[in-house]
Amino acid sequence: MAESEKSSAFKFLHTITKPLFCYGENRFLEELNPRGGETICEIGCGNCDNLIKICKRNQNVNLIGFDYPEEQTKSASKLVKEKGLEKNIKVLCGLAHEYVFDEQIDRFIFSYSLSSIPRPKEVLTNVFQQLPPGGTVHIVDFGNFEWWPTIVKSPLIGFLNIFQVFPEPEITSIFEHNKECNIDLEKKFGGYSFLAVLRRGL
Ligand SMILES: C[S@@+](CC[C@H](N)C(=O)[O-])C[C@H]1O[C@@H](n2cnc3c(N)ncnc32)[C@H](O)[C@@H]1O
Repeated sequence: MAESEKSSAFKFLHTITKPLFCYGENRFLEELNPRGGETICEIGCGNCDNLIKICKRNQNVNLIGFDYPEEQTKSASKLVKEKGLEKNIKVLCGLAHEYVFDEQIDRFIFSYSLSSIPRPKEVLTNVFQQLPPGGTVHIVDFGNFEWWPTIVKSPLIGFLNIFQVFPEPEITSIFEHNKECNIDLEKKFGGYSFLAVLRRGL
């Protein structure tokens, strides 16, 4: 399958199966509970659906949608503008493993994106080191289905891999020996998904 076909097929499937595949996303957004004046950046924001929801719940926060390539950020900017939220949500384009933000970001969020962004360990390291003390990284993503029967688990993982989605629920272990990082990790639904919060020490 050509890359462009894979990407269109993934976007289509992502849209129709979003409620099933994005299990836990709503709870993840509710638990964010940002303080006024904070800046939140979603890495791999897609069409900025999550940021639009956050914007509706929290008026007094600065929101940044970050994605790659430019084709994706142009389409996200267009949707944000159509909703009249361009003053609330800024959209930036770049490669997440190396991008350096001009402004201070208090919270980075990854919603079902870390598993599909290349070099995810470098991505996490890059954003974590740009956090101020007390800043957080919030992740919700696919797990490795450890409690699921092999007959379901193997085709499911195979299906995700076709669309370049590679679940890595143990990824936060790269911070295990980092004294500046506090890790909260919760696996859900027999390993279907995981929620993680990384907090940079004060
Ligand atoms: C599965 S989508 C996540 C969509 C969104 N978070 C949601 O919940 O609807 C993954 C996103 O990561 C973006 N992406 C892929 N590689 C990237 C990179 N190197 N840097 C930044 N974003 C990237 C893709 O363009 C895509 O929009």
